[in-house]
Amino acid sequence: MKNIIIILLTSFFIMSCSNKADIQKADINIIPKPQNITIGNGNFIINNNTSIISSDLSVSAEKLLREVLVFEVKNENKTDNAITFKSDKSLSKEAYTIEISEKGIFIISGSKQGFVWAIRSLQQMLPVDYRGINDNYSLSIPYLKIDDSPAFGWRGSLLDVGRHFMPVEKVKEYINLLSYNKMNVFHWHLTEDQGWRIEIKKYPKLTELGAWRKDGKGGKYGGFYTQEEIKDVVKYAEGRGVTIVPEIEFPGHSLGALTAYPELSCTDGLFEVQTNWGVFDDILCAGNDEVFVFAENVLAEVLDLFPSKYIHIGGDEAPKLRWENCDKCQARIKEEGLKNEHDLQSYFISRLEKFLVSHNRKLIGWDEIMEGGLAPEATMQVWRDVEYGKKAIEEGHDIISSPTSHCYLDYSQKQIDVEKIYSFNPIPEGVSGEAVKHVLGGEGNLWTERIPPSRLNYMAFPRITALSEALWTKTENKDYGDFYKRLQKQYLTLDKMGINYGPEGDIMDIESGVTENNGFKVTINPKAKGVSFKYSFSDKPNILLDYTKPIEFKKTTTINIQAYRNSIKYGEKQSLSFIDHKARGAKLELENQPSEAYSGNPNTIIDGLLGSINFRDGKWQGFNGDNLVATLSFEQTLEIEEVIVNFQSNVSSWIFSPKSVSVFVSEDGKNFVKIASIKNTEAYQGTKDELKSFEIKFDKTKTKVLKVIAENYGIIPNWHSGRGQKAYMFIDELIVN
Ligand code: ACM
Ligand code: ZN
Repeated sequence: MKNIIIILLTSFFIMSCSNKADIQKADINIIPKPQNITIGNGNFIINNNTSIISSDLSVSAEKLLREVLVFEVKNENKTDNAITFKSDKSLSKEAYTIEISEKGIFIISGSKQGFVWAIRSLQQMLPVDYRGINDNYSLSIPYLKIDDSPAFGWRGSLLDVGRHFMPVEKVKEYINLLSYNKMNVFHWHLTEDQGWRIEIKKYPKLTELGAWRKDGKGGKYGGFYTQEEIKDVVKYAEGRGVTIVPEIEFPGHSLGALTAYPELSCTDGLFEVQTNWGVFDDILCAGNDEVFVFAENVLAEVLDLFPSKYIHIGGDEAPKLRWENCDKCQARIKEEGLKNEHDLQSYFISRLEKFLVSHNRKLIGWDEIMEGGLAPEATMQVWRDVEYGKKAIEEGHDIISSPTSHCYLDYSQKQIDVEKIYSFNPIPEGVSGEAVKHVLGGEGNLWTERIPPSRLNYMAFPRITALSEALWTKTENKDYGDFYKRLQKQYLTLDKMGINYGPEGDIMDIESGVTENNGFKVTINPKAKGVSFKYSFSDKPNILLDYTKPIEFKKTTTINIQAYRNSIKYGEKQSLSFIDHKARGAKLELENQPSEAYSGNPNTIIDGLLGSINFRDGKWQGFNGDNLVATLSFEQTLEIEEVIVNFQSNVSSWIFSPKSVSVFVSEDGKNFVKIASIKNTEAYQGTKDELKSFEIKFDKTKTKVLKVIAENYGIIPNWHSGRGQKAYMFIDELIVN
């Protein structure tokens, strides 16, 4: 007989949860933290003789409990050793109580969801390693009482399956993990410029054509969910307390739909499911009644599949260029007495809302649906700025908060770390009193341009875990230090589940310096607690070295660095390319400063460490509309014959390579002579995201001061959705040979 023993409670008296030490002793590590825990004296043992006594509302919870316990629990009305579900309709929505004493385990709730959350709390109190042992069981749980209910009723996460398609099994795994932390909304972003992912029987071409894009290798990339698969996922989620809110995008982000049905656009043009990321001008026509017939037919099928009261219709990032130039759209503006294209967007959304309301549903849209006025009963999801949320609340609307500052989980862990998410409060500053009830809650958004299925959990966790506590636990009960300790315990469960979760935040900062004899001196500064590092040089990948002091070397090379925590790999391996060149160690002056959002230490452009394709990796300097005017002063006169400047080209993110690069030399630092320049002759439109090197060769020249000017593209042209705005120019590195 194999018994599983967990830490027993040793205190002699009843304690309230305000005493953290005692909760730790009882090893209660529930996330999100319950509002109230009282620990008793003693332990209840769940064993092979324990039975379950059900209530009418606890069917899903009981099923989940049996899954969680993995062993057969009896179903006889033996009350002396039982887990008893009791309905109590007087409890608030999602609230539950767990009472564990010598009388048994009593789970009390007034809702299906409340019962599921109770099971999640129970599950998190069980030892991590009870699974897979199937003879005799003895699971010990301390006597206690938990009274719990969420601070916010909307605790969600968006998953974009348009940019990267996520297979059904991945989606279910994600939903289960949301449920594990009592997150109750799965916002399924199902249609995009890069792919339409939901089968609609009336419009088969949406998935025949709209679900597939070119993969760049002569094949195609994509996929979609059949209606049967969707029904199955909806049922799976419901059994775990999670409501699925589908998002079908109107009128923008709809090139998946327009590829299948180009007649729904303003131009009848030929369209392709997009292979680039960004915002595209071609959107659904607002002047064509067929578009509304299409929208209603699509939504009718969506409503049949998803029981959710709320339906998300997108509404973000819809450029108005096509509407401005479309006779039908302009006729609609006249007919309806609208002022402009923003009013037309409002008209579009309001028409969708009428349809949804007539079917007893509610509309959600992104904060752009405010342009031209909010539809009468719309709920707004804030993403650009919480100010929009404040304004919507002033107008009497409900909001869901997911600002880029805290809730965009496609941003790196360095940009938005666990502690930052933990601090998230979905209530916009300045909203108080009665108005607070308009804040339904928040969401963590996973846009997947750079997140294939294999990276999903790495980006989502543990940040979603922190978000769950930010949304569930009352502000006065939140404590990051305490959360952090419980999180370390939850990792053991995630490890057991095989979840490839990511780091809590920034792991390391790399400094590339110069030794006395002009070699490299690379310092790794740890940014996380308890991390150590191992590294190898690319020409000797099998020789792993412990990092104990700055790494010194002479020549151009690549170094691979891996962080470890508790002897386990922490975060992803970093590959750093160093290139030896003459500007390293020079004195750098910049006439224009890089934009604040994309600037670290400007010296990174001559530190020999090359920036990666990720323009947010901290090594790039981004100039917004300005030229690079860099003056390099050398200690001694140098003979040079080449300047290479590396740029990012990522046009959909408004990052353009320069129009030209010129090189000047000077003896006194005052009078400069132009010695060479190069013009950019390549097209910008429709280009791939890539690094571009501008290589400028000239006759050997001796100089003490060098000036390099890279000419910013300037104002974004009309073919781009960012038209009229300043282009960015990203630089790293400026190499002199
Ligand atoms: C959004 O991030 N475009 C809602
Ligand atoms: Zn039109």
